[in-house]
Amino acid sequence: MIMTNKQEKFIREDYEKKIDELIAKMTLKEKIGQLVQISPSLFGAFGLTVDELIQKLVNGELSPEEFEKLDRDYHEDEIREGIIGSMGGVIGAEKSNELQRIAIEESRLGIPMLFGLDVIHGFRTVFPIPLAEACSFDIDMIKKSARIAAKEASAAGIHWTFAPMVDISRDPRWGRIAEGAGEDTYLGSVIAAARVEGFQGDDLSDTESILACAKHFAAYGAAVAGRDYNTVDMSLQTLHEVYLPPFEAAAKAGAATFMSSFNDINGVPSTANKYLLTDVLRGKFGFNGFVVSDANSVAECVVHGHSADRKEASRKALLAGLDMDMSHGTFREDLPDQAADGTIPEEVLNEAVRRILRIKFMMGLFDNPYRTSKEKEEKTILCAEHIEAAREMAKRSIVLLKNENNILPLKKNLKKIAVVGPLADNAEEMLGTWAVTGRAEDVVTILSGIKSKVSSETEILYAKGCEITGDKDADFKEAVEAASKADVVIAVVGEKSDMSGEASSRMYLDLPGKQEELLKALHETNKPLIVVLINGRPLTIPWVSENAASIVEAWQLGIQSGPAVADVLFGDYNPSGKLVVTFPYSVGQVPIYYNHPMTGRPAGKIKFTSKYIDGPVEPLYPFGFGLSYTTFSYNNLVLSSTEVKANEKLIISVDVTNTGNVAGEEIVQVYVSDVTASRVRPVKELKGFKKILLQPGQCETVSIELNVSELGFYNENLEYIVEPGLFKIYAGPNSKEGLEGEFNVYE
Ligand code: BGC
Repeated sequence: MIMTNKQEKFIREDYEKKIDELIAKMTLKEKIGQLVQISPSLFGAFGLTVDELIQKLVNGELSPEEFEKLDRDYHEDEIREGIIGSMGGVIGAEKSNELQRIAIEESRLGIPMLFGLDVIHGFRTVFPIPLAEACSFDIDMIKKSARIAAKEASAAGIHWTFAPMVDISRDPRWGRIAEGAGEDTYLGSVIAAARVEGFQGDDLSDTESILACAKHFAAYGAAVAGRDYNTVDMSLQTLHEVYLPPFEAAAKAGAATFMSSFNDINGVPSTANKYLLTDVLRGKFGFNGFVVSDANSVAECVVHGHSADRKEASRKALLAGLDMDMSHGTFREDLPDQAADGTIPEEVLNEAVRRILRIKFMMGLFDNPYRTSKEKEEKTILCAEHIEAAREMAKRSIVLLKNENNILPLKKNLKKIAVVGPLADNAEEMLGTWAVTGRAEDVVTILSGIKSKVSSETEILYAKGCEITGDKDADFKEAVEAASKADVVIAVVGEKSDMSGEASSRMYLDLPGKQEELLKALHETNKPLIVVLINGRPLTIPWVSENAASIVEAWQLGIQSGPAVADVLFGDYNPSGKLVVTFPYSVGQVPIYYNHPMTGRPAGKIKFTSKYIDGPVEPLYPFGFGLSYTTFSYNNLVLSSTEVKANEKLIISVDVTNTGNVAGEEIVQVYVSDVTASRVRPVKELKGFKKILLQPGQCETVSIELNVSELGFYNENLEYIVEPGLFKIYAGPNSKEGLEGEFNVYE
């Protein structure tokens, strides 16, 4: 195992010495306390449970202000007792400083607490959902987005975000696909590292940095049937080749914490999985931070049937390498007896305490426990610079899926534009999943974005048309009338925020409710129909794909949704995003992903090949796909060598020309396939990309360097090898098109 510089920083002699001294002074209760994360509990609030209240908050039925005002118990006596290592869900400079003061000044050893929160895509300045951001392939911008989230969250007293989610998912039924970087391992790894670097900055003691948490370790995105929390069964080779690399990238980038996942893998819950938490994470990845469970996942090992009771579950989890129990009190209730009677060896307990204290030292919390103030919070949150960055990120996240006859971009001085659909003038659904600290009032809707973009002579005819879901009495009359009078129709349709994210698996992936019927009615008017999609996952939209003039995939873009969509619709920004997940034609094709292993009978004209008898085998839109207002041509693929050794580098160059009339950005993608190997290999895999800006007529020779040592796979003994033989290489605009070359790897 080779540690990166960032990983080596975790072990410092001075800190380890201080930790030894502290551990020597701690009682058993205080030690276990460090392994506990607890959230303020709410009482008497509408007679609802905390989970129900959080659901109301997520649904927007309760505003963050109302939520904050609820009577709550901050466990101050236990903080005083020194038995709470971390709190989740404490928001605000004043509150966090007040609680930290109790820990520092009133507890026996004065150990600071860590305040954690799900800061998933922005804090108050809500950025696009992570899936959308990934479509930009703009790594610097993604890093900046995480940095801004860290600045705002740290100003509000947060030390630690439960992000990035680096789960690969090939299943759009799984609602949490919205929280990750899509289906590709290489891209997912690059983005995982960028997000960790953005949150953590160069130094954890920087008061604008927060701890990252790579989650959910591991393979949570492979839940059978796309159903959240479901079981995962896969070969260890697939686990290591497809699902673990983004976690390794996060660890190598210095991620301070990891979160274990809810699922079991091949029969062992991740939370109690020694192979994952110790052998792989610490042994192979060189991780020196700490691992937190997912909420209640320790106790759920009993429900899994992997432990007889909570005692056994907490013991197994701790022995497997889990350090902190999130929220539900299992460790604090079920470890003390076992630690007292020696069932749990003291060294194991001490080691977990050490890992948590180490991070607190690295953050500088012992010297500087109050990292923010009310003034700093007010100055930082939602400042103009952050809002501008959210707009930049949002427009780069948009993917243009169709643009018949170059109907887009629209002229700003059209006479009449119909803007219809249930998401056109909607603020809260632009925030997307996990925007706990976001507020609808900060959102610029798409309707407002369009209104501020067009000329003063342009008339905007708005009609909602129908609801997002349900709506059996939908009456499209007003929307159709608006469309009939207009030059073009912009229909904004899609999903609600809570239709993706946690516990939001769907078995149908079409537009919910009456929205497709609305689109059909609008289409009948024969006016050019531009569809703007707002969604947290790929949707199955063959009718839209066939009949709309243009499709703008806008995902859930956060508070600057309106300006970003308007920038694209009216050509102030030339769309450059590409899909990071395959769009299925029909839900029956799922799981469908571009880098599938080669079958012995690839789909062909004859019946006995790998396909369907009742629909296409091809997806609606492939991975890597996205259009621009200009066109690009690819020529002259050159390899630095066609004979290489496994320890050498290979440089791929290709001439990319902007063949259209406007400047545009292109994401040049390089895919590799190992033609013959001792294990069946994927048809192709992304191994490099570059985003470039070209003026009309400009040609650039794009060079992408590959390490041949990274083109291998895990053999049957789980050793990573690069087998000699023929490899194919593809350079192009998406996973389906491109120039082809080949090279040989020799021994
Ligand atoms: C989710 C995690 C999240 C945690 C804390 C869990 O239900 O699975 O992703 O970080 O809650 O809010």
